[in-house]
Amino acid sequence: WAIHAPYVAEINRLKKERNAVILAHNYMTPEIYHGIADFVGDSLQLAIKATEVEAPVIVQCGVHFMAETSKVLNPSKTVLIPDPQAGCSLAESITAEGVAQMRAKYPGAPVVSYVNTTAEVKAASDICCTSSNALQIVEAMESDTVIMTPDKYLAQNVANESSKNVVFWDGSCIVHELYTPEDLRAYRENMPGLKIIAHPECTPEVVAEADFTGSTKGIIDWVHAEKPARAMLVTECSMASNIADELPEVDFAKPCNMCPYMKKITLEKVLWSLHTMSPEVTVDPAVADGARRAVERMIDLSR
Ligand code: 13P
Ligand code: SF4
Repeated sequence: WAIHAPYVAEINRLKKERNAVILAHNYMTPEIYHGIADFVGDSLQLAIKATEVEAPVIVQCGVHFMAETSKVLNPSKTVLIPDPQAGCSLAESITAEGVAQMRAKYPGAPVVSYVNTTAEVKAASDICCTSSNALQIVEAMESDTVIMTPDKYLAQNVANESSKNVVFWDGSCIVHELYTPEDLRAYRENMPGLKIIAHPECTPEVVAEADFTGSTKGIIDWVHAEKPARAMLVTECSMASNIADELPEVDFAKPCNMCPYMKKITLEKVLWSLHTMSPEVTVDPAVADGARRAVERMIDLSR
């Protein structure tokens, strides 16, 4: 990513001038991940980090719900998102009204909402979860029946490991749902010794075919610990690109399902965002209070 050096240098200069911190998700392109981020991580790590930021400005290199979560958890900060159109098919699949419908259908059951939701949906939920703690959060609920929104596949993957009766909303991730067990088996046939590592937003059939399933941080940690000769990361394209240089001994099969939302964040837009100090993410204070309760309860239970 050397061709991006002038942008990287200017962003890093302006970042200091603005006293800003760049929080970036693991799906950012290598030039963002390695070139300008102050902190990289999965959704849970980014949420926890947002609570610790002391600088006045956070630039969220990720999707909109991640920027909202930072604002909710650290409301006195100016939170910038380089492209407010960086959405998420899961976050778009449900509203607070959808949560109310689920509560009406399963009276008394707690609602565990994935962090890939709007602040309104979080505020309407009992607690949040991420891909790294979903099973732990569901198991911690007192009720036998637990409602999970909005990812049906994450819910089914949790249900397969849980003692709870998990009922769920009909949402899915447009990136992970594309993988099929047939794809994975074809890769295995062509690459003997291949280790397949999947994200839990994949279908249960894909998860069953994988050697390991975890959050984006879980996937990175697993590959670092195991150092397989051949690995296939069944998740967004940039993950393998971001870690390949650190792991020259691993031959990565690189199927590429790109998240069109994550890829809306570019160096040019980050630079413009720092230059103009916009677009700023705002959350209605009453909604933010409700969302904060649900996210902080999750963080407390995850420690
Ligand atoms: P992680 O929390 O595992 O990073 O997942 C976020 C996400 O959007 C995956 O598609
Ligand atoms: Fe949403 Fe899927 Fe993109 Fe993650 S990869 S931000 S879940 S659409």
